[in-house]
Amino acid sequence: MASLDAPDVRRDTSRAAISAGSRKAREAETALRLKIIGSAAGGGFPQWNCNYRLSRAARAGTAGFRRRTQSSIAASADGRNWVLFNASPDIGQQIAQTPQLQPGADAPLRSTPIRAVVLTNGDVDHIAGLLSLRERQPFAIYATPQVLAVLAENSIFNVLDPAIVPRRMLPPQGELEICDADGRKTGVKIESFAVAGKVALYLEDSSRPQADYGSDKGDTIGVRIARDKGRGPVFYIPGCARVDAALRARLDGAACLLFDGTVYTDGEMIAAGVGEKTGGRMGHLSMSGEAGSIASLAGVKIGRRIFVHINNTNPVLDENSAEYATVRAAGWEVAFDGMEMEL
Ligand code: MLT
Ligand code: MN
Repeated sequence: MASLDAPDVRRDTSRAAISAGSRKAREAETALRLKIIGSAAGGGFPQWNCNYRLSRAARAGTAGFRRRTQSSIAASADGRNWVLFNASPDIGQQIAQTPQLQPGADAPLRSTPIRAVVLTNGDVDHIAGLLSLRERQPFAIYATPQVLAVLAENSIFNVLDPAIVPRRMLPPQGELEICDADGRKTGVKIESFAVAGKVALYLEDSSRPQADYGSDKGDTIGVRIARDKGRGPVFYIPGCARVDAALRARLDGAACLLFDGTVYTDGEMIAAGVGEKTGGRMGHLSMSGEAGSIASLAGVKIGRRIFVHINNTNPVLDENSAEYATVRAAGWEVAFDGMEMEL
């Protein structure tokens, strides 16, 4: 898979090459930039306590296996101001690996290009990184009422003083421009929408298995990300239990889809011997199968389709596997940390 940051060492000074070059430069000015800073599901890859063959291979540095940190992406409309989507427990490492997210050389003594964090649910892999963003640094948090309630109810999140780090509610519908703590626009516009999913593991109501363990609409959301110019919207949906007709219609015409790639088969954690839950029980649709994401999104017009939030039991983490080949042949890419795109 071609990485977009591969250096191009060729020099072609023909007129066609120069005009292609200036077209590229113009596009870069108007493009929405995206960077996948964490492509794994909760636990990361390898997971600290996992001795399954995939984590073992990643730990050993086997060819075809890439280490991956937990679920998060960054977006920017201008290449200077960045919006994070989810804050993973690996955020310190992710910032260390991502120059765009570090204080600029001539920036103030304490500063960050991270202007806001949008949360797609209250899962540990999506919110725990907020605790590492303390230090009285202004930025804004955007989330649904449910996820804002989790932050409010758990006083440890007060390390982010709401007077410095405002918490803002995502509207139930309509487009919203993400602003920094002082209300300055970032140019990144989003629209959030509920997807089929499950309440965070630590909030499950075990007495209500028939009601998805007490899950409500909006416990898990997807996000449409766009800027005024550029090639079209990107959809980020790291957790999704089902693809229905409404979701298919929403995604039609997307420039890019970053979608829940937790498991390849619904029962793979059980088959691997590492857990008792199916993907469905965790609120994650499998890649394969008749109702899986590959099949159910096959007829939808989408520019690029990329799996994110990949669990450490998913065989596509082995780039030499039959499953990886199947996914690629179906037109999907498998995200890796550091993957960048301009849209
Ligand atoms: C999930 O995506 O299902 C959760 O992140 C699981 C977890 O809390 O570890
Ligand atoms: Mn997760």
